[in-house]
Amino acid sequence: MTAPQRKLFVTTALPYANAPFHIGHIMEYTQADIWVRYQRMRGHEVHFVCADDAHGAPIMLKAEAEGITPQALVAGIAAGRPQYLDGFHIHFDNWHSTDSAENVELSQDIYVRLRDAGFIDRKVIEQFFDPVKSMFLPDRYIKGECPRCGAKDQYGDNCESCGAVYAPTELKNPYSALSGATPVIKQSEHFFFRLSDPRCVEFLRGWTQGERLQPQIANKANEWLESGDGLADWDISRDEPYFGIPIPDAPGKYFYVWLDAPIGYLASLKNHFHKLGGDMAAFLADKQTEQIHFIGKDIVYFHCLFWPAMLHFAGKPYKVPDNVFVHGFMTVSGEKMSKSRGTGISPLRYLELGMNAEWMRYYIAAKLNANVEDVDFTSEDFLARVNSDLIGKYVNIASRCAGFVTKRFGGQVSTDFGDDGAALLASIAAASGPVGDFLEGREYSKAIREIMALADRTNEYVNANAPWELAKLAGREADLHRVCSVALNAFVRLTRMLAPVMPAVAGKVARLLNCDFSRWDDTRLLATINPYEHLMTRVDPKQLEALFPPPENIPPAAPEQPQRHSQHQTHEAVEEAKKADDFEPFISIDDFGKVDLRIAKIVSAEHVEGAAKLLKLQLDIGEPKPRQVFAGIKSAYDPATLVGRMTVMVANLAPRKMKFGMSEGMVLAASDDSGTTPGLFILSPDSGATPGMRVK
Ligand code: MSP
Ligand code: ZN
Repeated sequence: MTAPQRKLFVTTALPYANAPFHIGHIMEYTQADIWVRYQRMRGHEVHFVCADDAHGAPIMLKAEAEGITPQALVAGIAAGRPQYLDGFHIHFDNWHSTDSAENVELSQDIYVRLRDAGFIDRKVIEQFFDPVKSMFLPDRYIKGECPRCGAKDQYGDNCESCGAVYAPTELKNPYSALSGATPVIKQSEHFFFRLSDPRCVEFLRGWTQGERLQPQIANKANEWLESGDGLADWDISRDEPYFGIPIPDAPGKYFYVWLDAPIGYLASLKNHFHKLGGDMAAFLADKQTEQIHFIGKDIVYFHCLFWPAMLHFAGKPYKVPDNVFVHGFMTVSGEKMSKSRGTGISPLRYLELGMNAEWMRYYIAAKLNANVEDVDFTSEDFLARVNSDLIGKYVNIASRCAGFVTKRFGGQVSTDFGDDGAALLASIAAASGPVGDFLEGREYSKAIREIMALADRTNEYVNANAPWELAKLAGREADLHRVCSVALNAFVRLTRMLAPVMPAVAGKVARLLNCDFSRWDDTRLLATINPYEHLMTRVDPKQLEALFPPPENIPPAAPEQPQRHSQHQTHEAVEEAKKADDFEPFISIDDFGKVDLRIAKIVSAEHVEGAAKLLKLQLDIGEPKPRQVFAGIKSAYDPATLVGRMTVMVANLAPRKMKFGMSEGMVLAASDDSGTTPGLFILSPDSGATPGMRVK
């Protein structure tokens, strides 16, 4: 029985429209996009929307500084969004703006309903006013000396030196960060949302408990709700000049940006329904509709107190969120991202370097869970997970088996799986339930771990049956056909589970193997397949080096590295120690076993036009067709002398697309990096070894 179809309204936080995306945004969108794709595979109806968060003082001031209107500033940022979203395969159904007609209408409507229900107060407050700029100063535009420790140049809300928290009016010698003028205290009437109203508190006590929020978030909300002072009323108005939405019946007053920002979720949904020719109000009023927000840990207060209270007391058709899913922050090598320190990853640079978007999606998925934990990016980890797991385990299955089926069996996939093959396929089919549950629960790292364990089992099956051996033996066609057919069907089942994470790879697999991944519970077997093409290349460590540009603003490191070697050591001893440092760490025999080394006969060797270092080799390793390998040995060998020689190659290095063609393996050579020529020595086996023999 299939569960009744869900109706989902899903959003991610609306990014400020004053800057392009950083990798943290990409992480949030990837998390939500995976979830949405999974829901669609389950047959649910999803409306996945976002928008630019356009309003507020910072955007107004930035535009002013650039001599353009805030609308023009925001439009410029909006124009840059698609290349990031398309680039990372993030598919929103609609992208809108909080500076839109829909948002004006909805924000004013919600406000009027709240006002009429008695949730809006007016109070005269005292605030710093910049007499030169003729405007009230937001906290972050007031600086001065910390009232507690006296540190200079501190912001109006807290001291970065001693951590004290205070009101801007407590700063000593305050000045306007906009004009440098000494601000004056001025009175103004502000509008407040009465969060302290007992009706609000009672509603939020109920709303924040239960399954709706992650436990850590529910606890946090509980702390806020039950803290001795109670909830403070929320200042929702700003005086002109302000880039925002006018407050009805209040000339010169605008909504504070955080009032209209979440309403932007609804504005985007409304705009989306308008394009679809549907009715947003009817959709929201539908009891079945679920409203779900993905956000980061820094904006929980807004989404778990203000937002549900606003919606609840505004009344129908508005509905409160069913879930707020909170994630931690992406850090890079353990550090918070900072452009000035040269850390962080530029998503655009990543794409421009030709790095595969789905490496990043896979990496993010492999690290994300449902807790509010930070996700750290390190190059080493990224390399290992993509090259060893994604390519080495998953892609490897298809690349080892598909060729036999097309070349030897006309692309027909067998339905005879044998007992062991059928058992393997059944175990993968059985995992689809738990893996689906992990995706549903945003436990992506668990889903990936499970999928990779199944890929391991599939590879064990392939290794145990060694199709490349069967291919050489007369009379074993049926066995070869069976083993490859099992492996390919296993591969398709793994691909289905990875499809929400890697939609482009899944699309490619669908075309190559004539299958489709639109449904999660599709159990159809493969019938015929097309000639195999490579699905994905490996990450080149050089790309990672290029991803992290040389830190420009770091003060130069101390000229001397801490001395590891004592003064008494001779020059040679130091060199020796350095060399010893070059050795790789120990690995287990199992790790070594993953490297498939084969005796290869060089059947042809030729120069490659335009390549300074490469020779193109054809290597016989006992397969029907020789392997093509590009080897960087031109400086040391005349191709004519290589033909007919035996050597050793790595046969299970994922094929790599090079400028000059595919390279399907690697020839082993000794070198000492000394730069002397020839300096390169390929290996030769003892006489008697034949092509295809395994080297262990
Ligand atoms: N404009 C507000 C949100 C309004 S929602 C009605 C805002 N914008 S933001 O651009 O600063 O952040 C957008 C989202 O990105 C937030 O969910 C935020 O938590 C998330 N992230 C910001 N830095 C991040 C990381 N380093 N890592 C992961 N997510 C991060 O806040
Ligand atoms: Zn201080």
